[in-house]
Amino acid sequence: PRTVIEPFRVKSVEPIRLTTPEERARRLEEAKLNPFRLRAEDVLLDFLTDSGTGAMSARQWGGIMAGDESYAGAASFFRFEAAVRDLTGYPFVIPTHQGRAAERILFSVATKRGDVVPSNTHFDTTRANLEYGGVEPLDLVIPEGLEPRARHPFKGNIDLARVERLLAEQGGRVPFGMITVTNNSGGGQPVSLENLRAYRDLLRRHGKPLVVDACRFAENAMFVKLREPGQAARTPKAIAREMFSLADGCTMSAKKDGLANIGGFIALRDERWVEAARNLLVLTEGFPTYGGLAGRDLEAIAIGLEEVLEEDYLRYRLRTAEYLGEKLLAGGVAIVEPTGGHAVYLDARAFLPHLRREEYPGWALCDALYLAGGIRGVEIGSVMFGKRLDDGTETYHHHDLVRLAFPRRVYTQSHFDYAAEAILELAARAREVRGVRLVRQSRYLRHFTAELAWA
Ligand code: F0G
Repeated sequence: PRTVIEPFRVKSVEPIRLTTPEERARRLEEAKLNPFRLRAEDVLLDFLTDSGTGAMSARQWGGIMAGDESYAGAASFFRFEAAVRDLTGYPFVIPTHQGRAAERILFSVATKRGDVVPSNTHFDTTRANLEYGGVEPLDLVIPEGLEPRARHPFKGNIDLARVERLLAEQGGRVPFGMITVTNNSGGGQPVSLENLRAYRDLLRRHGKPLVVDACRFAENAMFVKLREPGQAARTPKAIAREMFSLADGCTMSAKKDGLANIGGFIALRDERWVEAARNLLVLTEGFPTYGGLAGRDLEAIAIGLEEVLEEDYLRYRLRTAEYLGEKLLAGGVAIVEPTGGHAVYLDARAFLPHLRREEYPGWALCDALYLAGGIRGVEIGSVMFGKRLDDGTETYHHHDLVRLAFPRRVYTQSHFDYAAEAILELAARAREVRGVRLVRQSRYLRHFTAELAWA
């Protein structure tokens, strides 16, 4: 049989609740048309994020019971450290409560005001943590990476010519290079080993280290196996190890490819930043052998880092987004192509051509998906990235997309069949979807708390 199945059976279930369209309309009004303000129990399929929302395995739950909660030197820390070392080859391992804490600590000790840090695309928190320290984040993804319908096997690759120019012209301002695998922007587009190697060589010629934002390293390794010439016979683990071997360190959110509900780490090849990072860790996260996590969390991550590299799991994982994407494309729905590792992006301007950008088509589509099927996605568009300026005018983002991000090992194929049906049914009556307007907003990150009304 050709069907790619969920390579697990279910041992413990969590009910999800079907609601009526009338109830959803009421809940959405109460939430001021903002899906972030909904109660999760009123959502049927929650595709808000793949971060911290995955299901743990029986082995991980066993690890939870075995967690050693000693303040210093817990056995769980040493199991965690061994798992990270085995994967990355980096000797220095610093646990943190999640990815952004790893970023904040690393950037505090390794950058200074006026620096520039290039990447393919910095994630929001990475960008914000750099800017907070007066550092300029530079997104240098290849041009195909910005074109929703450009077909390229590695749309997450960094544009080496632009990195070269940066290093030649302003090398003194660059403390290190970064790269995000997979590139979250665009739904988890992969970076090839070839690109990673060339980036490393370029940085090395200028004496600069390379730091990987490794949140979705396993999904990236599987894309390399499936798409990069000469890689098909290797295991995802061997490929992941090679990815880490090309860099000098990483920041990690274990809420993604750590298959855990919380956690993160910094791992480094040499000692340079380690002592300063540990000093800062003690100040805000905790002692160096727990870093803001419980011993049981460290156990869950140690096991998750192994399980995530199982080939059957990764085949199923990448097939999930591809499967939903195929159904949507067959029904004429415009999405970001090809689908990436953890999400499908709908192109809201194509879906709702009757709406003007002032009516926030991405947001309107998010609301409509909830009303139509109880599905929660997130707008990646002009509410998230636009701004109301002091003179009262608005700025708009260059795309209005809706991200449907998939929790790991949580939903089954019939959930995705349901999602595809709901989206295609909505597409058939897209003209009825109303636009929205902002009624109240905060100055920063307005999408989280904004209140909206129908336009
Ligand atoms: N880097 C990337 C590429 C991410 O996608 C995220 C989180 C982080 C860093 C920060 O990690 O949440 O553990 O502090 N992404 C989530 C998302 C929130 O929905 O894409 P964190």
